[in-house]
Amino acid sequence: MTEQTRIPQPASAVARAGMTLDQYQAACEQARRDPETYWRGVGERLDWIKPFTRIKDVSFDRADFRIRWFEDGVLNAAANCLDRHQAERGEQVAVIWEGDDPDQSRTLTYRELHAETCRMANALKDMGAGRGDRVTIYLPMIPEAAVAMLACARIGAIHSVVFAGFSPDSLAGRIEDCGSRFLITADEGRRGGKRIPLKANVDAALEKAPVDKVLLVRCTGADVPLAEGRDIVWNDIRERLSDDCPPEPMGAEDPLFILYTSGSTGKPKGVLHTTGGYLAWASWTHERVFDYRPGEIYWCTADVGWVTGHSYIVYGPLANGATTLMFEGVPNWPDHSRFWRVIDKHQVRIFYTAPTAIRALMREGEAPVKAASRASLRLLGTVGEPINPEAWLWYWRVVGDERCPVVDTWWQTETGGVLISPICGATPMKPGSATRPLPGVFPAIVDEAGKPKEGPAEGPLCLVDSWPGQMRTVWGDHQRFLDTYFSTFPGKYFTGDGARRDADGDYWITGRIDDVLNVSGHRLGTAEIESALVGHPAVAEAAVVGYPHDIKGQGVWCYVTLKQGETPSDELKKALVNEVRNEISPIAAPDVIQWAPGLPKTRSGKIMRRILRKIAEGEFGSLGDTSTLADPAVVDDLIRNRPG
Ligand code: WTA
Repeated sequence: MTEQTRIPQPASAVARAGMTLDQYQAACEQARRDPETYWRGVGERLDWIKPFTRIKDVSFDRADFRIRWFEDGVLNAAANCLDRHQAERGEQVAVIWEGDDPDQSRTLTYRELHAETCRMANALKDMGAGRGDRVTIYLPMIPEAAVAMLACARIGAIHSVVFAGFSPDSLAGRIEDCGSRFLITADEGRRGGKRIPLKANVDAALEKAPVDKVLLVRCTGADVPLAEGRDIVWNDIRERLSDDCPPEPMGAEDPLFILYTSGSTGKPKGVLHTTGGYLAWASWTHERVFDYRPGEIYWCTADVGWVTGHSYIVYGPLANGATTLMFEGVPNWPDHSRFWRVIDKHQVRIFYTAPTAIRALMREGEAPVKAASRASLRLLGTVGEPINPEAWLWYWRVVGDERCPVVDTWWQTETGGVLISPICGATPMKPGSATRPLPGVFPAIVDEAGKPKEGPAEGPLCLVDSWPGQMRTVWGDHQRFLDTYFSTFPGKYFTGDGARRDADGDYWITGRIDDVLNVSGHRLGTAEIESALVGHPAVAEAAVVGYPHDIKGQGVWCYVTLKQGETPSDELKKALVNEVRNEISPIAAPDVIQWAPGLPKTRSGKIMRRILRKIAEGEFGSLGDTSTLADPAVVDDLIRNRPG
């Protein structure tokens, strides 16, 4: 596979393309020359209660920093996802729910989804929630998760969805950080035939971070304790609630949601997205990247606990009147054909998943794929981490039978929606490359001084200008927002990713260049894992790095220094793995724990992660200069005792 391996868009995709290559180039040109007109078009996709007259007001300079889009417009996100479709497609299916159990599925039409959302919005109002209040959502992948998000949006409350795989401690931290007084959860979740004790987790979390009211959705029917005066069972009150709830008029720049994500330092930060710009960008990108047409069945396999679920299960598709599939289960249960059988069962046209899932399924060979016809498919997408060319080609050849374009979409929680990706039916594809920026997106690969490099280049990836879906602040800590994203290269948004641009102008994302790990497409901060490890009484110090992992993309490698008098043992390793699982989530569980009598540090005491990464990668030849270390001998010891 060389960089020149270009795969043209299949003829069928070109023939139907909503945006041709010429139109894509014209749109890029217009966004450059006449941004007002271009962005007005993006904003006008939405239904505005009061139309905007101002379009963009942005400065990335520290002195007068601001990011505002469509600022004087007034709208409601839930009304855009529901009300405006009622006349045209009230009876069309909005949400197809496919249960963990292959015999369970459910559908909700746009009319039903509207009614359910209004009912839950009224429930929230009765609980005392309103405009600007934060509501934490800790739900499994059931339609009520989408209903809960839309219900918050309808009354102007700010939702904070916490992935249901997070531990009670992580949940408590997120409730506390945004001062949420309301929580929506379920008795239990289901995944791969197992039950997840959500309400028990909630009860544990609320001991640390109490809330006023809990709305409990019955999912498995498990018998869970209810706290008098605090817990309300949705299923008991649902019938009595009115299915009418007028949408709250919101300013374009009013917050829509907070979503916590990991950074290089400290605790996860609350990424804040606002109403107008976010929704316009989610909607526009969903239509353009996937070339979506009303009536098509669209499936994104993400969880609503991540940004991909927010933008491409809920907001983007529903704003576009799509039929969006929500899947409660996992790719390998009851067997490795599950994804492909679901595609046949629901006649899925567009399928959007993560490279880690593709790599795991690829390992099982072609037979499980061939067990399903996949004839309904017309487009494949990936997101969340770099996709290696082998996995890309397998996806294209085996899953898509070389007739479905593959769109490798690069973006982040912070960007709200896709920024770099092929456009279905237009952009020539290259296995492993996210190809080109969408019109109006201006990436730069910069040198150390932050100066954009020209032509083919490699280095830190920045964006030199704003787009409507950009995050606006870190909840409760605007300074952290500026410090994290706008101070490494002043005047530019720094993504934390490295990238390469080839001679054709195509982008290849090389991965994070900060202390953020990407494990199976999940973002984890090394600092969070270190803090969990140090929480164990036997641990004096810990340093965590990522290393290449065949399936997960990156694995978690932990160097652990024990306190005086503590003895390394397999039991202790297990205890440390459990510590991380319980403090954060099983998704953060260490893959390797290496006992480290000492860690390589500079004379000023800074841990040299670069060296630790090299050792974890097994690349001892390229350790670089170790002479500046306080004690160079620790490096030899770590190499000698490297596990595996
Ligand atoms: C990585 C997920 C390569 C990247 C939407 C980014 C990717 C981080 C791709 C954001 C891709 C996402 N190719 N890398 N197509 N998509 N990433 O916030 O490192 O969970 O910075 O958002 O995932 O992860 P997040």
